[in-house]
Amino acid sequence: QFIVMKLIDQTYQIQGIGVADLAEKYGTPVYVYDGEKIVNQVKLLQDAFSGVNMKIKYATKALSNINILKLLKKAGTGMDAVSIEEVKLGLHVGFDPNEIMYTPNCVSFDEIKEAVDMKVMINLDNIPMLEHFGRVYGNSVPVCIRLNPHIMAGGNAKISVGHIDSKFGISILQLKHILKVVKEYDLNVIGLHVHTGSDILEAEVFLKGAEILFDAAKEFKDLMFLDFGGGFKVAYKEGDISTDIMDVGKKVSVAFQQFCKEYGKELELWFEPGKFIVSESGYLLARANVIKSTPASTFVGVDSGLNHLIRPMMYDAYHGVFNVSKTGGEQHVYSVVGYICETDTIAADRKLNTVEEGDILAIKNAGAYGFSMASNYNSRLRPPEVLILGGKDYLIRERETFDDILKHQINIDI
Ligand code: LLP
Repeated sequence: QFIVMKLIDQTYQIQGIGVADLAEKYGTPVYVYDGEKIVNQVKLLQDAFSGVNMKIKYATKALSNINILKLLKKAGTGMDAVSIEEVKLGLHVGFDPNEIMYTPNCVSFDEIKEAVDMKVMINLDNIPMLEHFGRVYGNSVPVCIRLNPHIMAGGNAKISVGHIDSKFGISILQLKHILKVVKEYDLNVIGLHVHTGSDILEAEVFLKGAEILFDAAKEFKDLMFLDFGGGFKVAYKEGDISTDIMDVGKKVSVAFQQFCKEYGKELELWFEPGKFIVSESGYLLARANVIKSTPASTFVGVDSGLNHLIRPMMYDAYHGVFNVSKTGGEQHVYSVVGYICETDTIAADRKLNTVEEGDILAIKNAGAYGFSMASNYNSRLRPPEVLILGGKDYLIRERETFDDILKHQINIDI
């Protein structure tokens, strides 16, 4: 197993670089990513599938720094983009348009048009848009259809998106209606897509999604790929299990090969993982500002909060925390909280090596949906990002300054 942060010679290190040194060099808070881990995850996924043409379309929203995209391009992935801005980021770093899947939800037709002009793969998830697309483009532009398979899956209600009450995809129960629209406008449907949720442990969920896709696929003659979405679970807690990617790879490969035989054509098999690729690569480093004991607990207040990492508050997500300034000695139970004017508990009741003012805490699993969901709430600055590659650290995003807070505000005469 690829461990990102290692304790060597009484120092926490990533690729031989002291983590506390990184905090000193770049200041805190700071996001740090291990590039080798990211590439390793891509390899793991590629190696898990055999006998099928599997393509990774990295879910850009998880971590969208252009250098991460460049690294992934080099590692051989494509991209899944959910906004026109993500499409532009992909093109900006040199992805070929046909390596980019554009999977929007509830965007205007103007945005779809913009994406068509950029020649990326369009994935539509509602019938009115499919009709609009048909009226404008007929069969001149290939298209993919996102189906809602009505599978309840995912680690939290907010990230379960393939069930019957979800706003995503076109209900599989509306397949007849889809086929009517496809026929009416002679649409060139070359792909079908499902995504059921995030933090999915069992291979069976992916197989269930596959079965539904295979069934629907029989109704389309010109398919070139089936897209199974993302959602592989990674370990957040100590002792947590992750999706057994070898198991998923083996089972899905066998089922897919069988389907292709029946379909009479070798299709491409797509996955769109975000967390699996980048979650474990990243740490948010923050400094202990205040140690505050109350009759009920001991708080460690750090120089970060829900403005930089919203997952604990938004999804009750668990993120491991280490005191990287202390490698031994006594331990105490702390609640690690942010400096935001909200109850922004990052980690409740955790045993940490005794924390003193100024110590550096490393918050784990911060690679996915960390910086990308960060904000300027409380008019705070967003942190810098640092990428570690080949044993060297690179600043890949500067810390914001107060000018950034003022940048788009217009000062009128009042
Ligand atoms: N494909 C589609 C169409 C998606 O909507 C998503 C995530 C993915 C792929 C990637 O899922 P992943 O492999 O990263 O689980 N912000 C939440 C996760 C929800 C993201 C929404 N869609 C979190 O921090 O847990």
